[in-house]
Formats: sequence, C-alpha cells, structure tokens
Amino acid sequence: MRNVGIIGSGIVGRTLADGFLKHGYHVSVGTGNAAKLSEWKSKAGANAHVGSFADAAAFGEMVVLAVKGSAALEVIQQAGPSALAGKTVIDTTNPIADAPPVNGVLKYFTSLDDSLMERLQTAYPSIRFVKAFSCVGNAFMVNPRFPDGKPTMFMCGNDSTAKAHVTKILDQFGWETEDLGNVESARAIEPLCILWCIPGLQRNQWTHALKLLKLS
Ligand SMILES: NC(=O)c1ccc[n+]([C@@H]2O[C@H](COP(=O)([O-])OP(=O)(O)OC[C@H]3O[C@@H](n4cnc5c(N)ncnc54)[C@H](OP(=O)(O)O)[C@@H]3O)[C@@H](O)[C@H]2O)c1
Repeated sequence: MRNVGIIGSGIVGRTLADGFLKHGYHVSVGTGNAAKLSEWKSKAGANAHVGSFADAAAFGEMVVLAVKGSAALEVIQQAGPSALAGKTVIDTTNPIADAPPVNGVLKYFTSLDDSLMERLQTAYPSIRFVKAFSCVGNAFMVNPRFPDGKPTMFMCGNDSTAKAHVTKILDQFGWETEDLGNVESARAIEPLCILWCIPGLQRNQWTHALKLLKLS
C-alpha cells in the first residue's frame, strides 16, 4: 500500500502526512479549504497532493481520519462511505467536547459506555476502523525519541487484517503497538488523551508519551 489518504488538514493530518512522505508513501490530504494548505504543499514535494475529503478517501488504499471529533461522522459522509468501504481507516480522533477543561481535565461528549470510534463503526459498518495515534501529542507521532525506548501506541478495532496494516505503520513510525482488542476498547483508549493532556494543561508539560511496562 503506497497511497495514503489523509482526511483532515489540522496539525495531526499534516504531521502524519509528513510521516508517510518521509517513509516513502504518496499522500493526498483532504480538507474543506485547500487554499490553507498551499504552503504545506509547496514544501511537501511531488508525492503530496491536496484535495477534498472525497479526493483523499478515493486516493487512499489506506486512510487516516484526523478531524475534529464532533465533525467526524459528518466528514465521513462528505468523504463518501462507498469510497472507504473495505479500507483500513486509522482513527486518530478524540471526542473532545466544546466545553472548556476543568482543572486541566478535558471534557468529552461520550460516556465511559460509549466511544467515538464505536459511533463511527456503527454508522459505517463496511469501513475497517482502527484506533491509533489518539493518545499522544502530534509532536511525538512520527518516530519519537525517548531515552527509555519506544513508547506504546494503544490500538483497537474489529478487523485483524486492518490492525496488521496499522501495526506495520506503527513499526515504521517507531512505536511499540499494544492491541487492546475490538472497537469497544476505544472506550478506554480515547480517554488516554485526557490523561496525556493533564500535565500540559496544568503545568505546560507536553513532552511525554505513554509506555506499558511488562514482565514478559
Ligand atoms: N492535536 C493533537 O496533538 C492530537 C493528538 C491526538 C489526537 N488528536 C485528535 O486528532 C483529530 C485532529 O486534531 P487536530 O489537532 O489536527 O485538529 P482539529 O482542529 O481537531 O481538526 C481539524 C480538521 O477538522 C476539520 N473540521 C473541523 N470542524 C469541522 C466541521 N464542522 N466540519 C467539517 N470538518 C471540520 C477541519 O477541516 P478543514 O480541513 O476544512 O479545515 C480539519 O481538517 C482530533 O479529533 C483530535 O482530538 C489530536
């Protein structure tokens, strides 16, 4: 798979696009406002394209979803569920509510018995969603360097082939992968973003990633 569609043009979409380009992939970044990516495109090189959400969905053999959580269901509709059917879609999104954090603790519009990825998977059953890249800041998404070794990326999804695709990407991007099972595990993975953000929001400390320590 060399062609990756990136649905989303924020810092996560552009960071992961740069990561895929660095590792030799071709990318198409989808946005509702292509003009705002002209500077990024001019620096990104010949293997980078910019278009609509639908262009990115059609281009990608594998796709990344990196849009504001509250817009994710609607953006998939705009991108075209039929173009995404059967494809692996890496879901980076978090269900962050519009209400402000309380003492550094983000508010979510989901509960602990629900998750954004379950809503996406239920609405679009033919898409192979895999949660990944949601539990770390964008600065560390691509080949992070920490003195204690590789951090852990927590991943989940219903389709084992799709998770194998994403594990290969995570290997290339310098992560240790922890597969936490099916889509319901997004109920635990998505809130890791709340945890990750607390040191940043409370004391402006953003230079960390999560690691699962194991005896074997
Ligand atoms: N920032 C991080 O470090 C980080 C880390 C882990 C996970 N995440 C998650 O990754 C996702 C992307 O985050 P981000 O920081 O890159 O930026 P973001 O501001 O959350 O999302 C930007 C993208 O969302 C689209 N968008 C926003 N509102 C929309 C609407 N009403 N309708 C259609 N599209 C809309 C934008 O469209 P246009 O392209 O048209 O502007 C843009 O492509 C989020 O779900 C976030 O929680 C972020």
